[in-house]
Amino acid sequence: MYKIAVIPGDGTGPEVVSEGLKVLEAASKKFNFRYETKNFDWGGERYIKTGETIPDGGLEELKKFAAIFLGAIGHPDVKPGILEKGILLKTRFDLEQYINLRPVKLYPGVETPIKGKGPDDIDFVVVRENTEGLYKGMGEFQNKDTKDEVAIQVSYNTRKGVERCIRYAFEFTKRRNKRKTLTLCGKTNVLTYAWDLWERTFYEVAKEYPDIKTEYAHVDATCMWFIKNPEWFDVIVTDNMFGDIITDLGAMIQGGMGIAAGGNINPDGVSMFEPIGGSAPKYTGKNVINPLAAIGAMQMLLAEIGEAEAAKAVEEAIIYVTANKMKSLSAGKMGYSTAEVGDLVVENL
Ligand code: IPM
Ligand code: MN
Repeated sequence: MYKIAVIPGDGTGPEVVSEGLKVLEAASKKFNFRYETKNFDWGGERYIKTGETIPDGGLEELKKFAAIFLGAIGHPDVKPGILEKGILLKTRFDLEQYINLRPVKLYPGVETPIKGKGPDDIDFVVVRENTEGLYKGMGEFQNKDTKDEVAIQVSYNTRKGVERCIRYAFEFTKRRNKRKTLTLCGKTNVLTYAWDLWERTFYEVAKEYPDIKTEYAHVDATCMWFIKNPEWFDVIVTDNMFGDIITDLGAMIQGGMGIAAGGNINPDGVSMFEPIGGSAPKYTGKNVINPLAAIGAMQMLLAEIGEAEAAKAVEEAIIYVTANKMKSLSAGKMGYSTAEVGDLVVENL
């Protein structure tokens, strides 16, 4: 019996979460597993009413679940940063979800803005460090509100934090068993403290994986190659900030925010899965948002809890729908409503 925590969150979060849960229900019947869900009302509405982001004991409670399914966090009436830091980042940090796993895979039938590239060319995974770097929130103002003001924002990288991320990436590359190539994406030519540590750790851990080919690319060049030669990549490992940036670019080349899913992974604890597109306030409540990213997040959740067969079948159903049914992956242009896309995936499962 899997206990799944559900945080629908803000904006279109609840709409896409229902479609993900619809697919979970269908998968549990087909693959004979049992689960129960518990809803958590964390998000903008609750914050506006109570002034609270995560209630006392909330994170402790989450630790008892097999996995967490998240819709979106972000509310137009709440100052940017409060909910992101107070809910999303706090959960990632406190539950030690130190990997942010973001597959970039172009499915058949999905349009990519990259001319001349197809599903055979765009299929890689970004392993983003998820608890350190610039996201640590270290820094200070000096002489605030004067003409001599200085704002310092520190990138905090621990050997332990870097190593566990790099080790996960090597293991993942091995398990994925595609091109057996792991690329370190960094900025060794300028950020000579942080990336020195990353580079040293990378090549040290690499010695334990003689079958994995290692490559290095600067983050700016990585952006160029995502567009020019995405087929060069198999698995990429990078820090929190670079990973945040390059995975938005990755999402665009795989067909947009409507399809991009991610997992916040604690390999020894509770992981959280989410569509990466955000709360999309302007589409809220219209039944037009694409739920495939949330369904893809559910697929990743199933894989993580050990339902590999179900995960594979969900991905195949998504592919059937993108290849044969949907006109577009953009909100309002799919040829179907949010709920109908969820139904299509269920039918083809
Ligand atoms: C993401 C988001 C978050 C991040 C924001 C909402 C804090 O952009 O999941 O990529 O920067 O990590
Ligand atoms: Mn982001």
